[in-house]
Amino acid sequence: MKRFQFYCFFVLISSIWVLLSPFASAQTATDPVIAGDEPDPKMAWFTDARLGIFIHWGIYAVDGIDESWSFFNKYLSYEDYMDQLDGFTASNYDPEAWAVLIKESGAQYAVLTTKHHDGVALWDTKLSDLNVVDATPAKRDLVAPFVKALRNKGLKAGLYFSHLDWSHPDYDVFRSNEYRYKDDPERWARFKTFHMGQLRELSSQFKPDLWWFDGDWEHSAEEWNAEGIRDSLLTWQPETILNSRLNGFGDYATPEQGLPLNPSDGPWELCMTMNDSWGYQDHDLNYKTPYQVIHTFADVLNGGGNLLLDIGPKADGTIPDEQVAILKELGRWTSKHAEAIYGTKRGIPFGHFYGPTTVSADNRILYLFLPNGSKGQIVVKGLKNKVDRIRIVGNGTKLDSQILGKQYWSDVPGILYIDVPESESDPIMTVVALQLNGEVDLFR
Ligand code: GLC
Repeated sequence: MKRFQFYCFFVLISSIWVLLSPFASAQTATDPVIAGDEPDPKMAWFTDARLGIFIHWGIYAVDGIDESWSFFNKYLSYEDYMDQLDGFTASNYDPEAWAVLIKESGAQYAVLTTKHHDGVALWDTKLSDLNVVDATPAKRDLVAPFVKALRNKGLKAGLYFSHLDWSHPDYDVFRSNEYRYKDDPERWARFKTFHMGQLRELSSQFKPDLWWFDGDWEHSAEEWNAEGIRDSLLTWQPETILNSRLNGFGDYATPEQGLPLNPSDGPWELCMTMNDSWGYQDHDLNYKTPYQVIHTFADVLNGGGNLLLDIGPKADGTIPDEQVAILKELGRWTSKHAEAIYGTKRGIPFGHFYGPTTVSADNRILYLFLPNGSKGQIVVKGLKNKVDRIRIVGNGTKLDSQILGKQYWSDVPGILYIDVPESESDPIMTVVALQLNGEVDLFR
């Protein structure tokens, strides 16, 4: 009798778990963000988008050195760094072609560096001469035509903006351990007026769908007036989305380079370089292969996040061939597997399948992402549903399967073996769809 009671208790607990599962798992936030109990409707396009392209474009591409950090860390003088202004021509800049390539990659949005920590503005700011119109041979606003081209292609436009400005005469920090001043409220207030003024310019001219802030670490939320910045941006444009680098007053978390194994429950986005640099550096050929990029992307999808994959155009505006090749291969793969990517949800907990998974919006299709070279039989454990059809995503091939080990007297599901013929393998990563007879139901 005792055993029966224990059994009933166990069944009750596991049913509660299954109800909360498959999307629940122990999660910790990677970055502080403002998070309500309910998903914010303005975030819907973002959480469905899954892929964005980050663009680090600035004068640092001229000599191919680290953006801003190279003078901050005194690897070269400030003057030598700024000499790059003279080489920033943007002579082959083709914003429409950029937008076409971004669209082709399968990305749904792009984020362009309007101003990095070096303070050089890529738009025609009226609040400082340090901009590409006044200070470089490019002699024109580079943000406006890109935002227009993105929108013409149905893509969302995000603006990267660094709060700190190591060039501005009223900003306190100049270089590592070098300050222009300390504790001068008047100068700080002047800087904040400038800072807010530039945000206002960008907001009114471009109505960004997303603000990608950076550089909040040199001052506290109070010093930046982070809450006030959030309020102003949302007053000017209520639907805009803010990343987390606003001292905790953003809408989504932004892990960088390293894939979070326990990603936050709320919206998040992994930003990642293709090689080891954000901007263009001619000698940096340490590119990830398309397989490595797509593998990380599948892990991001599994965790319910977005990937913001970075490119670094050259000073003349051409996108390096290596980067174009990765975007094109990504595009082939994302268009073939679109149904398993866009609008899907976080995958099932690890243990049921050796690889990343996603679940369709209605919870009735389970997508399995097969690691490189997977062929022969793949295995799914603990799936209580009846599977109506198993097929290869992108070409519809029906797959044979077998359930082994099912005992009629036990609730434990049998083990599902699926045959994936080598001839059907995608050269990068095959995706298999399991159409279920109801919503995903797992035995834990
Ligand atoms: C880091 C880098 C910065 C880069 C950013 C992109 O903060 O310091 O240069 O722009 O990452 O996420």
